[in-house]
Amino acid sequence: MMMSSSQRQAYSYGDALYWDARYLADGSASFDWYQRYSALRPFVRKYVPVSARVLMVGCGNAVLSEDMVKDGYIDIMNIDISSIVIEMMRTKYAHIPQLRYMQMDVRDMSFFDDESFDCVFDKVWHGCPTQCLSDARRSEQITYGDPSVRIPHLNQPGCNWKIILYIIPRPGFQSPGGYNPPRSIMEPVTLTESGQLPAGFVLEDPDSHYIYVCKKMH
Ligand SMILES: C[S@@+](CC[C@H](N)C(=O)[O-])C[C@H]1O[C@@H](n2cnc3c(N)ncnc32)[C@H](O)[C@@H]1O
Repeated sequence: MMMSSSQRQAYSYGDALYWDARYLADGSASFDWYQRYSALRPFVRKYVPVSARVLMVGCGNAVLSEDMVKDGYIDIMNIDISSIVIEMMRTKYAHIPQLRYMQMDVRDMSFFDDESFDCVFDKVWHGCPTQCLSDARRSEQITYGDPSVRIPHLNQPGCNWKIILYIIPRPGFQSPGGYNPPRSIMEPVTLTESGQLPAGFVLEDPDSHYIYVCKKMH
């Protein structure tokens, strides 16, 4: 199935058809949105043991999961709404048993039993906390997006998370005076009681990326 760019624009990021068309057009090359594993590694290693059963939501054709296996991770279930990209990735990684691929919409995770995973990665935000995490009692998540939008979602009733926020510059960011962060990127940002950035908090890179580590409170 081929689609023109105007046809593709008629669909949205939540549509399987949109993503199928996109991957058919240019899916053979891998592409990692926002950040690659090298930048995320300190956070991943801090919170996720290599023995963890990991669910990678909306895996696309990123090399993140492959890089994690090279770093010692042994069990990564990758799901994506696009059957096209799942087929491509299954073929590409047929020789790596630590990586499994399934076509699936994160909005319906009924295929998996509760507690099937120890950690869920949602790298480009598919809104899975309420949808898959609270049902399945998975424990940690790394995702992106501004706190004013994300925190209310993460704090919805039924989501009993302890949220730890890190803010990192986008890859290649250079400020005019040289990148000189006021704190280590490994230092969590303390949020206000309502879950927002403190007043006067300065983002050196206005297009920073946000990493939310959400730990399930028992
Ligand atoms: C912006 S890309 C990110 C790909 C990859 N995670 C990365 O970081 O480079 C979003 C991916 O999510 C998939 N996707 C969109 N909606 C989804 C849904 N409801 N369930 C599962 N996957 C979805 C798309 O097919 C696409 O591959």
